[in-house]
Amino acid sequence: MIRKAVIPVAGWGTRVLPATKSLPKPMLPVADMPAIYYIVEEAVASGIEHIIFITSRHMRAVEDFFDEQPELKHLLASKQNNAMLDRLNAIETMAKFSFVRQSQPRGLGHAVLMARNAVGHEPFALLLGDDLMWSGADNPPCLRQLMDVYEQRHASVIATMPVPDAEVSRYGIIRGERVGPQLMQVRGLIEKPSLAEAPSNQAVVGRYILSHGIFDLLEHTPPGRGGEIQITDALCALLAHEPVYAYEYHGRRYDTGDTVGWLMTSLDYALRRPEFAPALRAYLRTLDLSGEN
Ligand code: G1P
Repeated sequence: MIRKAVIPVAGWGTRVLPATKSLPKPMLPVADMPAIYYIVEEAVASGIEHIIFITSRHMRAVEDFFDEQPELKHLLASKQNNAMLDRLNAIETMAKFSFVRQSQPRGLGHAVLMARNAVGHEPFALLLGDDLMWSGADNPPCLRQLMDVYEQRHASVIATMPVPDAEVSRYGIIRGERVGPQLMQVRGLIEKPSLAEAPSNQAVVGRYILSHGIFDLLEHTPPGRGGEIQITDALCALLAHEPVYAYEYHGRRYDTGDTVGWLMTSLDYALRRPEFAPALRAYLRTLDLSGEN
C-alpha cells in the first residue's frame, strides 16, 4: 500500500515571474484555492495519509497554508462564519504534513532525495507541483490510477501522455514496450530530448509511484540536463534492477508552470464550480474575443 507522497515545491517559478517574486508558485490561486491544494486533494483522494513537502527558504506560505491559523479561526468564529471555519479545518486535517528543506536548487532528483529519511523503506508517490490532473467525474484520481497498476505489478509506475513532436523537448520521454491497454514496460527514458533523440512521443507527466530503491540511485546520479540531478536519470538507472511501468492515464493535465497555462487552469477550475460558474460564464459571454483588445 502506498501511504506517503512527496511533493517538491522548492523552485522559484521563473516562468511565472514577476507574480512569483514574493508569492511562492504553489500558492498562485486557481479558483479560490492555491494550486498546491489540488495536488494534495488528489493525493488524499487516492489514499495518501502523509504528505512530505520539499520546500526552500521562500516557501513559508505553503507551510502556513496547511497549518492552523488560530487568529483567523477566532475572527471567523466571532463572525459566525461556520462554513468557512469548516473548510479551513478540513484543509488542516486532510493528512499528516511534513516539511523538508532543500537548501540548494540542485534539481528535481536532488529534491526527491531530501525525502529519503521521511519516506523510509517503502514505496511512495511523487507528485509535481506544476501539474494539476483533472480526471473527470468518471475516472479515479490520476494518482489512484497509478496505484492500481502498482498493486497489480508491484513495481514503479510513471504517468505518461502522448505529446506532439513540437513538445517532446519539454518532457522526460520514454521508450517502452506495450504490455496492456494503456500500459507499457519502460525500456529507456531521456530527459527533454531533441525531436531527433526522442524515442517516442510518450511524455512523463508529474505523477510517479517509486520504489524506495530510487534513493540509492539518486545518491549516485550525476547532474544531467540543465546541470541538475534529474529523477529521469535515476529512473533510467532503476531499469537495470527492477521493472518500471508507464501508464497512459485517463484525464487531462493542466500545466500551471507558465503564465498562460496558469490562467487557463484557473479559468477552467472556476468554471467547474457551481458557485462561480454562472457569473463567470455570463461575464465571458460579454467579452469581445475577436482579438481587437
Ligand atoms: C519534470 C520532469 C520531466 C517531466 C515534467 C512533467 O520536468 O523532469 O521528466 O516530463 O516534469 O511536468 P520540469 O517540468 O520540472 O522541468
